[in-house]
Amino acid sequence: MSLEIVEIGVILIVDDNPNNLEVLSESLMDTGWEILVAVNGEGAIAQAEYAHPDIILLDVMMPGIDGFTTCDRLKSNPITADIPIIFMTALSETVDKVKGLNLGAVDYITKPFEQQEVLARVQTHLKIRHLTKQLQTQNQQLQQEVAERLLAEAKLQSLTKDLEQRVEERTSQLSHALSHLQQTQVNLIQREKMSALGELVAGIAHEINNPVNFILGNLGHASEYTQSFIELLNLYQKYYPEPVDEIVDKIDEIDLNYLICDFPEIILSMHKGTKRMAQMIRALRHFSRRDDASAEPTNIHEGIDSTLLILQYRLKANPERPAIQIIKDYDTLPLVECFPGPLNQVFMNLLANAIDAIEESFVKSDSSLVEYTGKITIRTSVLEQRSVVVIQIADNGIGMTEEVKQRLAEPMFTTKPVGKGTGLGLSISRQIIEEQHQGAISFVSELGKGTEFSIEIPVVKN
Ligand SMILES: Nc1ncnc2c1ncn2[C@@H]1O[C@H](COP(=O)(O)OP(=O)(O)O)[C@@H](O)[C@H]1O
Ligand SMILES: [Mg+2]
Repeated sequence: MSLEIVEIGVILIVDDNPNNLEVLSESLMDTGWEILVAVNGEGAIAQAEYAHPDIILLDVMMPGIDGFTTCDRLKSNPITADIPIIFMTALSETVDKVKGLNLGAVDYITKPFEQQEVLARVQTHLKIRHLTKQLQTQNQQLQQEVAERLLAEAKLQSLTKDLEQRVEERTSQLSHALSHLQQTQVNLIQREKMSALGELVAGIAHEINNPVNFILGNLGHASEYTQSFIELLNLYQKYYPEPVDEIVDKIDEIDLNYLICDFPEIILSMHKGTKRMAQMIRALRHFSRRDDASAEPTNIHEGIDSTLLILQYRLKANPERPAIQIIKDYDTLPLVECFPGPLNQVFMNLLANAIDAIEESFVKSDSSLVEYTGKITIRTSVLEQRSVVVIQIADNGIGMTEEVKQRLAEPMFTTKPVGKGTGLGLSISRQIIEEQHQGAISFVSELGKGTEFSIEIPVVKN
């Protein structure tokens, strides 16, 4: 039998019998392995600790500590515990073999020694020993790698988490900054627009106010004078029924009877028109009051009515649709301490949106098929022991989709075409109600049915 010899190996032979030592050493000599010897258990333990052999061949019967005790001590010493031990026993000692194996020995060889057998067994265990060592090393490497990877993974995870958190923080900071910026922009635009437009409107209203009132006042006199002239003419006709030809001709030419009938009518309609103009101017002046400085006791209904008057041109019937109906359901309200100018602006924004929503309903529906009238209901009431007034503006217009409802709080959000919608109306209104008046604004809307906005304002300002 030829054996492939494992090249490197350190073998410790432990035997008190020099003969045995010699025989064994000789058997193993040709292999190229390094052979160490010990003649008792103590010497074996010391050498094993020091030289760390690959295999120990251990005799059982020895003076001093015997082979079993030696094996036991080697196995319980961490430095030598993993060195494979092969017992050397006499053929007949079966009990010893079992005991040895139980103590942790890997094999036994029987005396008298068979050279080939000794060689084969030592060779096998040496191979196993090498493989085991290799495996151990690989295992250690693997474990090390696993540990390193776990560490790297943990690091990566913590970095990722850190990064995610930072991204989250930054995102929230940015979106905060953005909404702040948008709100500031809205405020700026609002202030800019209001001051420019408000001043213009107030200026024009003021300028027109005087002449219109002057015309209105004089029309009263004009009407009186006309009546007097007509009466005088009648008297002339009564007492001078036959005037000269020239007068007769003139009476024919100017169609005096018609004139006498028509002139008072003309004066009357001029009076009516001028009166409406004066009302409109009053509404404009009311609407554009630039009184941001301090809140004052205000009649809310007057504010709503002036706004409606200004919006009259949009409520009237036009070729596309019939007039929009306004239903007022006013409660008796106390005077409310507020800023009338900005508050009117809120009414204007909400009413304009309601009109837009109704007009969109007309565009969407086939109006020849559906009997539809646009309606805006304005309801006012007092809440909580008369400390809060509520103004509700409801329309039966197009309503809002879920997406529109979600995005309504965004400044500059609009569903209207460029040039028509700015998406500023509600942001401005919210700001006026919530910040300037410590009130609340809310809405309910159903697609295809309509929308209702509610404003709550404390009667007394904090
Ligand atoms: N009464 C309403 N009915 C239906 N949608 C409305 C109503 N009021 C507001 N909206 C929706 O809210 C959006 C924002 O309104 P707003 O801030 O006034 O800006 P704008 O009117 O310029 O679009 C509108 O474009 C519209 O989609
Ligand atoms: Mg609007």
